[in-house]
Amino acid sequence: MASITIRNLDETAKQALRERAAKNGRSMEEEARLLLTAPNLAPRRKTLTNAPIELLHHPNLESGEVQPLSSMGYDSDELATKVSLSRSITEEFAGFPAAGKRVLLIISGGIAAYKCLDLIRRLRERGVHVRPVMTKAAHEFITPLSVGALAADKVYSDLFDREDEQDVGHIRLARECDLMVVAPATADLMAKIANGLANDLASTILLATNKPILLAPAMNPAMWEHPATQRNIQTLKSDGCLFVGPSAGEMAESGEAGTGRMSEPMEIVEVIGNLLDTRPKPLLGKRAIVTSGPTHEPIDPVRYIANRSSGKQGHAIASALADLGAEVILVSGPVNIAAPKNVELVKVETARQMQIAVEAALPADIAVMVAAVADWRSVGEAKEKMKKENGKGPSSLKLTENPDILKGLGHHKNRPTLLIGFAAETQNVEKHALAKLEKKKADWIVANDVSVDSGIGKNKGGVMGGDRNRVKILTKVGIESWPELTKTQVAKRLAQQIADTLFTKSTAV
Ligand SMILES: Cc1cc2nc3c(=O)[nH]c(=O)nc-3n(C[C@H](O)[C@H](O)[C@H](O)COP(=O)(O)O)c2cc1C
Repeated sequence: MASITIRNLDETAKQALRERAAKNGRSMEEEARLLLTAPNLAPRRKTLTNAPIELLHHPNLESGEVQPLSSMGYDSDELATKVSLSRSITEEFAGFPAAGKRVLLIISGGIAAYKCLDLIRRLRERGVHVRPVMTKAAHEFITPLSVGALAADKVYSDLFDREDEQDVGHIRLARECDLMVVAPATADLMAKIANGLANDLASTILLATNKPILLAPAMNPAMWEHPATQRNIQTLKSDGCLFVGPSAGEMAESGEAGTGRMSEPMEIVEVIGNLLDTRPKPLLGKRAIVTSGPTHEPIDPVRYIANRSSGKQGHAIASALADLGAEVILVSGPVNIAAPKNVELVKVETARQMQIAVEAALPADIAVMVAAVADWRSVGEAKEKMKKENGKGPSSLKLTENPDILKGLGHHKNRPTLLIGFAAETQNVEKHALAKLEKKKADWIVANDVSVDSGIGKNKGGVMGGDRNRVKILTKVGIESWPELTKTQVAKRLAQQIADTLFTKSTAV
């Protein structure tokens, strides 16, 4: 029996499984095992090796229906293994712009070829189909076995392959993709493409293609700087080839340093995502300000007042707005998460700094104030660390109110067209949020219950710091209650609602 790692299933599938298990009085493991070993599955040994990764989001598991997997006809052991190996795409990599697209990856013979194995993995887990082609020299650096296993596809190498060339396979390879990626791109292969040579499968495909070509060069700095290579790069650029890297750093093979390192797999993945992003951009030309994270209000040089906000929700909203084409300024308090790449980040510590940064970013069409701004700060930050004084007991902390950033925007002469505040409450969520909507002159308040016993989150630890959220959208016309979602899903839904609202506003007569 293959082992099943339920924790690796995506949340929707997990929830469906949880409900089924509860209904049938079984543990989740037991339920999953029974599903996967349903008798009507066993005889149908259809291989998953080439199955699209979306199959892991089994519709029946998601809807909680009783007939899971049988309609698919995939081998149960293989599926179980694949489920246990897979990371959840919908949860972790939801909405990768190139998901479902086809990349033809040409691996040429450089030492950086080993990075391609990771590149293939990162693309596949984001739902990108990778078809690998290896040059003869690439076989000296990595094995086709590893490449094929990770890509879950055949590795193409031979131009004169009798089977593939019965239907002129190299032309098919050149056309049946959305993007060609050459990584690593050797000096040799680039010289061939620049000069229109076609004496092996890789160079022939590159000459025959009508698809965009992205090159990730990797070579010794002397080879990179050589006038011949630089000439070839210029030719390739003027022929329309796109480049990622190379970066500067230490060389793997020689202990030398300089420009010539292949870009890291995740950088290449990001470029591929941007190149293949064909999603509509309804917020193109719109400017958005988003605040995120907590603020830190200093008491003395080593102590501060803070809260448990992680910045996950605010950062996700900034990213989702940018994905829809908005120019986003993310004003963030101190957080331990990476800023989305597609936004302009302004880092602040205190509420007062945040207010200055937000107002400096005006005018804006959209402002989403997600940050958990501290309501109070200590009066007069001590210059030196405050010391215990024997026998005197703890000194009391005198607090003063911080500026109200949302209210400030609501009454600002450059008030954003759509002003949205967040209300993190632990009780009477709706009542407090409605009062906030009125008092701050906001258009919407996104209210969430941040109490630890809200019943939200993987370990039910609550919204703050967690990955999930359940929000209510309060507007002047009513209240919309959303189900519990990941913070990414909340962000995407909110960004879409913002886009729809701005469109309606701009087209209203
Ligand atoms: C150990 C070793 C490492 C090499 N690394 C690189 C490299 O990083 N970049 C490069 O352009 N060529 C490199 N070469 C040279 C290429 O392998 C050589 O030019 C080969 O013909 C390239 O063939 P291809 O472009 O068809 O893959 C290396 C050669 C050896 C022996």
